[in-house]
Amino acid sequence: MIFSKITATGAYVPDMVITNDDMSKIVDTNDEWITSRSGIKRRHFSNGENTSDIAARTAEKIIQNSGIEPLDIDIIIVASVSSDYTTPSTACIVQSKIGAKNAVAFDIGAACSGFIFGLSVADKYIKTGVYKNAIVIGAEVLSKYLDFGDRGTCVLFGDGAGGVLIEATDEKTGILAEELGSDGDKGMALTGGFSPASNAFNKFNSNADRNLRMDGRAIFDFATRSVPKSVKKLLDDCNFNYEEVDFVIPHQANKRIVEIISRKLKIPMNKFYMNMDEYGNTSSASIPIALNEMVEKGIIKKGDVGVITGFGAGLTWGSMLVKI
Ligand code: UT7
Repeated sequence: MIFSKITATGAYVPDMVITNDDMSKIVDTNDEWITSRSGIKRRHFSNGENTSDIAARTAEKIIQNSGIEPLDIDIIIVASVSSDYTTPSTACIVQSKIGAKNAVAFDIGAACSGFIFGLSVADKYIKTGVYKNAIVIGAEVLSKYLDFGDRGTCVLFGDGAGGVLIEATDEKTGILAEELGSDGDKGMALTGGFSPASNAFNKFNSNADRNLRMDGRAIFDFATRSVPKSVKKLLDDCNFNYEEVDFVIPHQANKRIVEIISRKLKIPMNKFYMNMDEYGNTSSASIPIALNEMVEKGIIKKGDVGVITGFGAGLTWGSMLVKI
C-alpha cells in the first residue's frame, strides 16, 4: 500500500506585529479582554504582501527544507478564503512564482479546515498512485477582510501561511487516518466576502459585504462539540490508544476552546500545541504554521504520532492521525 509521508514543512508570516494594545487604539477593546477570552496577545498583519506572496514564500521554504526541485512537484494545493483573485487561483500564481511548471495547481476553500481538506485530497492522489508528491499550503491575508469597527471579530484574526510537502512511500507513516465533515445548515454563523447576484438587468440584489461576520458564541459551541467528536471517531475507528498520541495540533482559534477539547478527550493539555498568542487565528494557515514551528523547535521527533484537527466556516471540521 502507498502512504503519504510528510517530508518537509515551511511557513512564512508577515513581520508587522500588532499587539492587543495596538488594537485597543483603533477599536473599543483591551489586552485583558482579548487575552482572557481567546489567549491571543499579538497577530501579524500584511504590510502589503498578498496571499499569493506569502504562499509562494512558504512554498520556497518547503522546497529549501526538502530535496525536491520545483520542476519535480506534481501538485500544488492552496487552501485559502482570502485569495488575491477569484481567478486565477492562488495555487496557479504560486506555481508561476516558484517555477513549478509540471505541477497541477488548484485552490480549496474550506476556511479553517482548509489545510486538512487540502491534505486529504493530496493524500488520495498519492495513495491511488496518480501522483508521487504534493505541496499543500494554507495561506491567508485575513486582515483585508476584517471590519476594524467590529471588536468581536477584528481582534481575533491574523495573516500567515504554512505548508508541507508529502511524498509517496511504502512505509506505514504520514497520513494514517482521517475524519472530515461539513454542516452547511449552520454556515451563516461565519461568513465572509458575500457577493450578491447583481447584473445589469437585476435591480433587486442585496448589498455586497466583503468583511468577515461571525456569531462567536455559535462557533465556540460548534467547535467544542464537533472537534472532540471528530477526534474520538478518528482514534476509535482505528483502535488507536489515546495515551499513544504524542501531540495534538488544534486549529488556533481560542485557548478556551482547546482547554475544553482537552478535557472532553481526556488528552492532557501538555500534548496540545498552541501559538495563537503570537499569530491569532490564521484560519487555514494555523495548523501548518504550528506544525512547522514544532518541527523547527525540535518539539516533534521522527516517529511521533499526533492528531491535527481543524474546524470553522462552512461549517466544516477535519481531523487526521499523522506519523512524522
Ligand atoms: O476559526 C474558527 C472561527 N472562530 C472561532 O473559533 C471563534 C469562536 N468563538 C470565540 O472564540 C468566542 O466566542 C469569542 C472570543 C469570539 C468571544 O468570546 P465570548 O466569551 O463568547 O464573548 P461574547 O461574544 O459572549 O461577548 C461577551 C462580552 C460582550 O459584552 P456584553 O454584551 O456582555 O456587555 C461583548 O460585547 O464581551 C464584549 N466583547 C468585547 N469586549 C472587549 C466582544 N468583543 C470584545 C472585545 N473587547 N474585543
